[in-house]
Amino acid sequence: MRLRSIPCFLALAALAAYAQAPAAAPLRGFPPDKWKAEHEREEQAKAVPQAERLRIYMDRMAAKPHHAGSAGSKAVADYLTAQLTEWGFDTHIETFQARPSDPAALAAAIERLSARGHAPAAAILDGLITSDGIADLDPGYVQDLVRLTHAAGGLWIADEVQAGHGRTGEFLWCFERFGVVPDLVTLGKPMGNGHPVAAVITRRDILAELVGHVTIFSTFGGNPVSAAAALAVLDVIDDERVLERVQRTGRALGTGLAELAAARPEIGDVRGVGLARGVEFVADPATREPDEARAQAVRDRMRELGVLVGTTGRHGNVLKIRPPLAFDEPHVPLLVDALDRAM
Ligand SMILES: Cc1ncc(COP(=O)(O)O)c(C=O)c1O
Repeated sequence: MRLRSIPCFLALAALAAYAQAPAAAPLRGFPPDKWKAEHEREEQAKAVPQAERLRIYMDRMAAKPHHAGSAGSKAVADYLTAQLTEWGFDTHIETFQARPSDPAALAAAIERLSARGHAPAAAILDGLITSDGIADLDPGYVQDLVRLTHAAGGLWIADEVQAGHGRTGEFLWCFERFGVVPDLVTLGKPMGNGHPVAAVITRRDILAELVGHVTIFSTFGGNPVSAAAALAVLDVIDDERVLERVQRTGRALGTGLAELAAARPEIGDVRGVGLARGVEFVADPATREPDEARAQAVRDRMRELGVLVGTTGRHGNVLKIRPPLAFDEPHVPLLVDALDRAM
């Protein structure tokens, strides 16, 4: 107990000393001049409107577009791509529409890369398209994508950050639904069930290519506490037969949402699998014009009714229903009823 309190005491003492340091004599070299200049720019930025602030922020950001998911991140990705292109940087990235399921869209993206002199290094897919409206992808379609990628010399990355760890119910990993074998798999969010832990899994031969060429370094990588949390999650998935529960509950949820959609013309589509469901709102069932305002109003009203859902999709008009995997059959009517009342 005493030992544990020592670092805490030292940290407090350091903070107190820092707070008491006279303004003219800050800790030596801290903050660095570069930080001060940065701080001044931030202060100036506060004086300019939101859109201009975003532009300044993006100007400074040296990162690549992360995932062209929601309408917001799409706008950011588009902006960044345009900005980098304007500066004369080659972005090395192409995105493609996974819906409608046409492999030609990936072939065209590979073509665009090749026109800039690049062969694809890899293609990455979130098998549920969770951040872009939720989709039921056809196994044949995903197999075609993998074939195209491999034929062009690229690796296939299955992004299981949202879709993995039993979310879809039939299998532990979403890629298993498609009958494909990825070259790399990325894991995150549910991996520690709240504890921050993530992983990239790959084949030994791919890793061997990196050894000696690339330094892979991570300050907290391999943390035994995180590893214990991640292993405990796998144990619970086994011990509590989580996959069976997700299948059972997912079926009930799918049926409940489909019944509601049949009675509500403003629901243009219900899709998804297991405990990942999308409910698309349309202003007009004939034209399927997206109704973002309704989706957001329903989402906010559901929160007031005690049910947390999000919105997703290019137009933000799809409710993203992705409950914790502890969600069970008796909870389904609560959710469907709240959605009905919110509408
Ligand atoms: C589908 C998907 N993949 C990857 C990521 C990135 O995960 P992380 O925030 O752990 O880097 C996210 C995060 O939002 C995601 O939704």
